[in-house]
Amino acid sequence: MKLIAPSILSAEGGRLAEEISAVEKADADWIHIDVMDGHFVPNITIGPAIISSLRKSSKLPFDVHLMIENPENYIEAFAAAGADIITIHVEAAHNLHRTIELIKKCGKKAGVSLNPATPLTQVEEILPNIYLLLIMTVNPGFGGQQFIEKSLGKICKTRKMIDALANKPLLEVDGGVNLRNIKSISSAGADVFVTGATVFSSSDYAKTIAEMKVAMSNI
Ligand code: DX5
Ligand code: ZN
Repeated sequence: MKLIAPSILSAEGGRLAEEISAVEKADADWIHIDVMDGHFVPNITIGPAIISSLRKSSKLPFDVHLMIENPENYIEAFAAAGADIITIHVEAAHNLHRTIELIKKCGKKAGVSLNPATPLTQVEEILPNIYLLLIMTVNPGFGGQQFIEKSLGKICKTRKMIDALANKPLLEVDGGVNLRNIKSISSAGADVFVTGATVFSSSDYAKTIAEMKVAMSNI
Protein backbone atom coordinates (compact mmCIF):
# COMPACT_ATOMS: atom_id res chain seq x y z
CA MET A 1 0.00 0.00 0.00
CA LYS A 2 1.40 3.43 -1.01
CA LEU A 3 -0.43 6.53 0.17
CA ILE A 4 -0.23 10.32 -0.23
CA ALA A 5 -0.90 12.48 2.82
CA PRO A 6 -0.97 16.23 2.04
CA SER A 7 0.12 18.35 5.01
CA ILE A 8 -2.20 21.29 5.59
CA LEU A 9 0.71 23.21 7.14
CA SER A 10 1.33 24.54 3.62
CA ALA A 11 -2.37 25.08 2.80
CA GLU A 12 -3.90 28.56 2.90
CA GLY A 13 -4.66 29.10 6.61
CA GLY A 14 -7.87 31.07 6.12
CA ARG A 15 -9.36 28.46 3.82
CA LEU A 16 -8.40 25.19 5.52
CA ALA A 17 -11.80 23.54 5.03
CA GLU A 18 -11.81 24.29 1.29
CA GLU A 19 -8.18 23.24 0.93
CA ILE A 20 -8.96 19.89 2.59
CA SER A 21 -11.95 19.29 0.29
CA ALA A 22 -9.79 20.23 -2.70
CA VAL A 23 -7.07 17.66 -1.92
CA GLU A 24 -9.72 15.04 -1.14
CA LYS A 25 -11.17 15.62 -4.62
CA ALA A 26 -7.63 15.52 -6.00
CA ASP A 27 -7.28 11.89 -4.79
CA ALA A 28 -5.31 12.39 -1.56
CA ASP A 29 -5.44 9.34 0.74
CA TRP A 30 -5.01 10.93 4.18
CA ILE A 31 -4.98 14.48 5.54
CA HIS A 32 -1.75 15.13 7.48
CA ILE A 33 -2.21 17.65 10.30
CA ASP A 34 0.89 19.13 11.94
CA VAL A 35 0.38 20.20 15.55
CA MET A 36 3.20 22.35 16.98
CA ASP A 37 3.47 23.84 20.45
CA GLY A 38 6.37 26.30 20.28
CA HIS A 39 8.36 24.15 22.74
CA PHE A 40 9.14 20.86 21.04
CA VAL A 41 9.56 22.79 17.79
CA PRO A 42 10.09 26.52 17.16
CA ASN A 43 6.64 27.09 15.64
CA ILE A 44 2.98 27.06 16.74
CA THR A 45 0.07 25.75 14.65
CA ILE A 46 -3.39 24.43 15.46
CA GLY A 47 -5.06 22.47 18.24
CA PRO A 48 -8.07 20.21 18.84
CA ALA A 49 -10.77 22.91 18.39
CA ILE A 50 -9.74 23.67 14.79
CA ILE A 51 -9.31 19.97 13.99
CA SER A 52 -12.79 19.30 15.31
CA SER A 53 -14.31 21.93 13.04
CA LEU A 54 -12.28 20.69 10.05
CA ARG A 55 -13.53 17.14 10.66
CA LYS A 56 -16.76 18.03 8.83
CA SER A 57 -14.90 18.92 5.61
CA SER A 58 -13.60 15.45 4.82
CA LYS A 59 -14.17 11.73 5.16
CA LEU A 60 -10.46 10.97 4.74
CA PRO A 61 -8.44 9.72 7.71
CA PHE A 62 -6.94 12.56 9.76
CA ASP A 63 -3.27 11.74 10.33
CA VAL A 64 -2.37 13.93 13.31
CA HIS A 65 1.35 14.51 13.86
CA LEU A 66 1.93 15.85 17.37
CA MET A 67 5.14 17.87 17.61
CA ILE A 68 4.44 18.77 21.22
CA GLU A 69 5.95 18.25 24.66
CA ASN A 70 3.99 16.07 27.13
CA PRO A 71 1.77 14.55 24.41
CA GLU A 72 0.15 12.27 27.04
CA ASN A 73 -1.83 15.27 28.33
CA TYR A 74 -3.55 15.90 24.98
CA ILE A 75 -4.35 12.46 23.54
CA GLU A 76 -8.00 12.41 24.69
CA ALA A 77 -8.57 15.91 23.27
CA PHE A 78 -7.17 15.03 19.84
CA ALA A 79 -9.06 11.74 19.81
CA ALA A 80 -12.33 13.55 20.60
CA ALA A 81 -11.55 16.15 17.91
CA GLY A 82 -11.63 13.44 15.24
CA ALA A 83 -8.04 12.30 14.72
CA ASP A 84 -7.82 8.79 13.23
CA ILE A 85 -4.08 8.28 13.61
CA ILE A 86 -2.21 10.01 16.43
CA THR A 87 1.58 10.13 16.12
CA ILE A 88 3.82 11.22 18.97
CA HIS A 89 7.55 11.91 18.99
CA VAL A 90 9.85 9.47 20.75
CA GLU A 91 11.93 12.49 21.85
CA ALA A 92 8.92 14.07 23.59
CA ALA A 93 7.29 11.07 25.25
CA HIS A 94 8.71 10.16 28.65
CA ASN A 95 6.56 7.04 28.90
CA LEU A 96 6.24 6.07 25.27
CA HIS A 97 4.57 2.70 25.84
CA ARG A 98 1.98 4.16 28.22
CA THR A 99 1.06 6.95 25.79
CA ILE A 100 0.79 4.49 22.88
CA GLU A 101 -1.58 2.38 24.96
CA LEU A 102 -3.61 5.51 25.78
CA ILE A 103 -4.00 6.32 22.07
CA LYS A 104 -5.29 2.79 21.47
CA LYS A 105 -7.59 2.97 24.47
CA CYS A 106 -9.14 6.05 22.87
CA GLY A 107 -9.92 3.87 19.82
CA LYS A 108 -7.27 5.47 17.58
CA LYS A 109 -4.30 4.17 15.60
CA ALA A 110 -0.96 4.90 17.22
CA GLY A 111 2.14 6.25 15.51
CA VAL A 112 5.65 7.09 16.68
CA SER A 113 7.95 9.60 15.02
CA LEU A 114 11.73 10.01 14.96
CA ASN A 115 13.67 13.21 14.30
CA PRO A 116 16.50 13.02 11.76
CA ALA A 117 19.21 12.69 14.44
CA THR A 118 17.37 10.06 16.50
CA PRO A 119 18.57 6.50 15.90
CA LEU A 120 16.19 3.69 15.00
CA THR A 121 17.25 1.75 18.09
CA GLN A 122 15.03 4.13 20.10
CA VAL A 123 11.88 2.54 18.63
CA GLU A 124 12.97 -1.08 18.35
CA GLU A 125 10.97 -2.18 21.40
CA ILE A 126 7.80 -0.25 20.53
CA LEU A 127 7.53 -1.26 16.83
CA PRO A 128 5.41 -4.38 17.53
CA ASN A 129 2.84 -2.15 19.31
CA ILE A 130 2.26 0.55 16.71
CA TYR A 131 0.34 1.13 13.47
CA LEU A 132 2.78 3.60 11.95
CA LEU A 133 6.40 4.75 12.20
CA LEU A 134 7.04 8.28 10.94
CA ILE A 135 10.59 9.07 9.85
CA MET A 136 11.26 12.81 9.75
CA THR A 137 13.42 13.72 6.78
CA VAL A 138 13.71 17.40 7.80
CA ASN A 139 14.02 18.87 11.29
CA PRO A 140 10.40 19.38 12.37
CA GLY A 141 8.90 22.85 12.63
CA PHE A 142 8.39 24.19 9.12
CA GLY A 143 7.10 23.22 5.70
CA GLY A 144 9.08 23.70 2.51
CA GLN A 145 12.47 22.52 3.82
CA GLN A 146 14.97 20.44 1.91
CA PHE A 147 14.94 16.63 2.22
CA ILE A 148 17.98 15.41 4.20
CA GLU A 149 19.61 13.03 1.71
CA LYS A 150 21.17 10.85 4.39
CA SER A 151 17.64 9.82 5.40
CA LEU A 152 17.39 7.42 2.45
CA GLY A 153 19.71 4.99 4.23
CA LYS A 154 17.64 5.29 7.41
CA ILE A 155 14.46 4.53 5.44
CA CYS A 156 16.06 1.38 3.94
CA LYS A 157 17.15 0.25 7.40
CA THR A 158 13.66 0.89 8.79
CA ARG A 159 12.08 -1.11 5.95
CA LYS A 160 14.24 -4.11 6.84
CA MET A 161 13.36 -3.81 10.52
CA ILE A 162 9.64 -3.59 9.74
CA ASP A 163 9.70 -6.51 7.32
CA ALA A 164 11.02 -8.74 10.08
CA LEU A 165 7.94 -8.01 12.23
CA ALA A 166 4.55 -9.68 12.21
CA ASN A 167 2.50 -6.46 12.58
CA LYS A 168 4.41 -4.50 9.89
CA PRO A 169 3.69 -0.88 10.89
CA LEU A 170 3.32 1.54 7.97
CA LEU A 171 6.48 3.51 7.19
CA GLU A 172 5.64 7.19 6.70
CA VAL A 173 8.14 9.78 5.46
CA ASP A 174 7.70 13.47 6.28
CA GLY A 175 9.69 16.45 5.05
CA GLY A 176 10.94 17.66 1.70
CA VAL A 177 9.18 15.01 -0.40
CA ASN A 178 8.87 16.26 -3.98
CA LEU A 179 8.37 15.06 -7.55
CA ARG A 180 12.09 14.54 -8.05
CA ASN A 181 12.82 12.41 -4.96
CA ILE A 182 9.56 10.52 -4.32
CA LYS A 183 10.60 7.60 -6.53
CA SER A 184 13.84 6.96 -4.60
CA ILE A 185 12.05 7.37 -1.26
CA SER A 186 9.52 4.82 -2.44
CA SER A 187 12.27 2.44 -3.58
CA ALA A 188 13.88 2.79 -0.16
CA GLY A 189 10.67 1.34 1.27
CA ALA A 190 8.29 4.13 2.34
CA ASP A 191 4.53 3.40 2.39
CA VAL A 192 3.07 6.84 3.19
CA PHE A 193 4.36 10.12 1.74
CA VAL A 194 3.59 13.39 3.51
CA THR A 195 3.65 16.32 1.13
CA GLY A 196 3.16 19.95 2.06
CA ALA A 197 4.74 22.49 -0.25
CA THR A 198 4.84 20.22 -3.32
CA VAL A 199 1.05 19.87 -3.43
CA PHE A 200 -0.17 23.13 -1.92
CA SER A 201 2.17 25.39 -3.87
CA SER A 202 1.21 23.74 -7.14
CA SER A 203 -1.47 25.22 -9.36
CA ASP A 204 -3.20 21.88 -9.99
CA TYR A 205 -3.48 19.61 -6.91
CA ALA A 206 -4.95 16.69 -8.86
CA LYS A 207 -2.18 16.75 -11.45
CA THR A 208 0.55 16.96 -8.79
CA ILE A 209 -0.90 14.11 -6.70
CA ALA A 210 -1.39 11.98 -9.82
CA GLU A 211 2.26 12.57 -10.82
CA MET A 212 3.43 11.69 -7.32
CA LYS A 213 1.36 8.50 -7.38
CA VAL A 214 2.84 7.44 -10.71
CA ALA A 215 6.39 8.10 -9.48
CA MET A 216 5.93 6.28 -6.16
CA SER A 217 4.31 3.22 -7.73
CA ASN A 218 6.74 2.94 -10.59
CA ILE A 219 9.69 1.43 -8.73
C1 DX5 B 1 7.39 19.55 9.34
C2 DX5 B 1 6.06 18.85 9.20
C3 DX5 B 1 5.78 18.38 7.82
C4 DX5 B 1 5.75 19.44 6.76
C5 DX5 B 1 6.03 18.80 5.43
O1 DX5 B 1 7.65 19.78 10.68
O2 DX5 B 1 5.97 17.73 10.05
O3 DX5 B 1 4.58 17.62 7.78
O4 DX5 B 1 4.56 20.15 6.70
O5 DX5 B 1 6.05 19.79 4.48
P1 DX5 B 1 6.97 19.73 3.18
O6 DX5 B 1 6.43 18.62 2.35
O7 DX5 B 1 6.77 21.08 2.58
O8 DX5 B 1 8.38 19.49 3.64
ZN1 ZN C 1 4.23 16.28 9.76
